[in-house]
Amino acid sequence: MKTKQFVYGIKGNIVYSKYPEKIEICDNSYLLYEGNKIIGVFSKIPDAYSEIQVKDYGDRLIIPGLVDLHVHAPQYAFRGLGMDLELLDWLNTNTFPEEAKYKDTEYAEKAYRIFVDNLRKGATTRACIFATIHRKSTMILMDLLEKSGLSTMVGKVNMDRNAPDYLIEHTEESADETVEWIEEVIAKKYSRTRPILTPRFIPSCTDELMKRLKMIQKSYQLPVQSHLSENYEEIAWVKELCPESAFYGDAYDQVGLFGKDCKTLMAHCVHSDEEEVKRIKENGVYVVHCPESNTNLSSGVAPIRTYLDEGIHVGIGSDVAGGATENLFAAMTYAIQASKLRWRLQDDSLKPLTVAEAFYIATKGGGEFFGKVGSFEPGYEVDAVVLDDSRLLHPQELTVQQRLERMIYLSDDREIYAKYVAGEKLFERG
Ligand code: GUN
Ligand code: FE
Repeated sequence: MKTKQFVYGIKGNIVYSKYPEKIEICDNSYLLYEGNKIIGVFSKIPDAYSEIQVKDYGDRLIIPGLVDLHVHAPQYAFRGLGMDLELLDWLNTNTFPEEAKYKDTEYAEKAYRIFVDNLRKGATTRACIFATIHRKSTMILMDLLEKSGLSTMVGKVNMDRNAPDYLIEHTEESADETVEWIEEVIAKKYSRTRPILTPRFIPSCTDELMKRLKMIQKSYQLPVQSHLSENYEEIAWVKELCPESAFYGDAYDQVGLFGKDCKTLMAHCVHSDEEEVKRIKENGVYVVHCPESNTNLSSGVAPIRTYLDEGIHVGIGSDVAGGATENLFAAMTYAIQASKLRWRLQDDSLKPLTVAEAFYIATKGGGEFFGKVGSFEPGYEVDAVVLDDSRLLHPQELTVQQRLERMIYLSDDREIYAKYVAGEKLFERG
């Protein structure tokens, strides 16, 4: 008989997604898990598990941890500031001067600690994070994240052109520092903090650097993250810089950094044309929807309905500091609201996103980039967030589905009661 000694349970109103269309609601149920693997959700504890320890969260909601597939840690310090610009001016005016400060490891330690502490307090359990070009500061960020208990992928950024002198690397230096950084990460033997190759975007990286990064990607089998088709000016610039590429995404694909054998995240995809969407789908590239950033920087609204209908992988990103908040419940709200404006003002053939779809992309959709993450189906990793909505008084009884909807639109860190990442409890409010 199988030993049951490492099987545990948590009890509450369990809410998760299997598909984008529908939210699974299990009132007053048990989530059973063994080690870091979910056994299943049950309305009664099966006889075979009658002896297990159960933590009862009462009438609270239990949801999968949220997944932020695109966030810039060094930009956290200027979130909510300087938003009256479009992408390229915003990068030059706000972003590059701030990122340059991370050459100073003391500043990096101070600023990254604030970012990591706040990320830990929220509903996010997993994140794919941009650091800066600075190797030492990137290691400081990774050390802090490892200690936080969150499960993350972090990238030392690569940039060898079109940046100010104070934030640029020579091609060789950028490639060599990347290898040194990866070796350092391997030597650290982190258990939950992994490296991800991070060419900032095509305008920041020469063809030569991209070729070297492909070699590095291949020899270390790393995933890749970057930006794609966010802003019209940016897209026109890529056309000039890479006249031989058929479209923006093709510039990544020509060097082998666009899906297929190389797991790839592309933030934004606001203005991807038909050919680009086709290649995204064929190559299995993950689209990261960053609706708050796309609004703040007046970039536009990505056609997420099309991507979901096409069966393209879609996750959500805060894109701090393009987005002002790391709160992914807010990101879900922005995704729904932006899709409604797009539908009303731009293209009535694409129906707005539903609450169920926004919840799906913020959990299971993005979680897939990490493996079996973001759902409570059997075999998934145990990432769970317990929500206490008692602060948000209501005069009537609400269904669990209604309570989840209110959490998406109204909650903040005060509603986060407990958090589990990869089977480990990070905290529980006493
Ligand atoms: N494209 C290149 N760099 C950035 C960045 O830092 N933020 C956003 N939103 N887009 C980018
Ligand atoms: Fe970004």
